[in-house]
Amino acid sequence: MYDSYKRHISYLRISVTDRCNLACRYCMPEQVKSASGGNQILDFEELAHIIRTLVPMGISKIRLTGGEPLVRKGLDEFVGMISGIEGIREITMTTNGLLLPGMAEKLASAGLDRVNISLDTLDPERYRELTRGGDIRRVKRGIDAAVKHGLNPVKINCVITPETTPAEITDLKEFCRSKDLGLRFIRQMNLGSGKFWKVEGGEGGHCLICNRIRLTSDGRFIPCLFSEKEFDIKDYGIKEAFSRAVQQKPEKGRVNSRNTFYGIGG
Ligand code: 5AD
Ligand code: SF4
Repeated sequence: MYDSYKRHISYLRISVTDRCNLACRYCMPEQVKSASGGNQILDFEELAHIIRTLVPMGISKIRLTGGEPLVRKGLDEFVGMISGIEGIREITMTTNGLLLPGMAEKLASAGLDRVNISLDTLDPERYRELTRGGDIRRVKRGIDAAVKHGLNPVKINCVITPETTPAEITDLKEFCRSKDLGLRFIRQMNLGSGKFWKVEGGEGGHCLICNRIRLTSDGRFIPCLFSEKEFDIKDYGIKEAFSRAVQQKPEKGRVNSRNTFYGIGG
């Protein structure tokens, strides 16, 4: 499907859960309340049915996000279900990497093509502080597992915060060069006062060629990270909810007063 600005919408980002095994300071509010507001999350059969319905409408690329997608049990089986859907050409995932050591092999054989792994610093103490308790050694093992099992090119997502130092950036660049990993810097989006908005030049700044629609774990289509519009499958059915999200995708995003990030997967 084309939206009203002639962008061909082919890319669906599915937040399979809003839970996470970390609580990064720039992502989670202090007291975590569920982004789905207690709504029922869709099971894998329902999600697969949604994807099957959207392929004839133009979706060919799926990215699994969260929260942290790998905290949802049986995600490798879900990847297997998606890769069996004719017309799906690419399946990717954005993960914090903590659970990849035990999952990378299963995910790869189920048909996952590649992963983006969030890693904002190589300093173990800073990592622990930023993620409220994360162990960086597990992430590094996760990265190695992803590379070993061919989830390539493995890309690192690094959110630049006001605390990020030039030395940390240099270290990350060197780390990624030595391991032959891609590296993307993402400007932190402002989450203060229950609002976040686009930082000029930051991630999300490619509105002109943005081909994505988001689906929350409880079945709402979101046309743009920076828009308050959402279309619930319960209200409209799959095709109509998706069509409306595509048709009402804004030309550009500016402000979002959703209070969280973790329910929509970055
Ligand atoms: N600003 C920018 N990116 C964010 N993410 C989460 N919260 C923010 C934020 N406030 C992104 C990160 C992370 C992904 C899961 O979501 O890129 O890697
Ligand atoms: Fe979890 Fe990713 Fe949010 Fe960190 S940024 S709390 S890893 S969902």
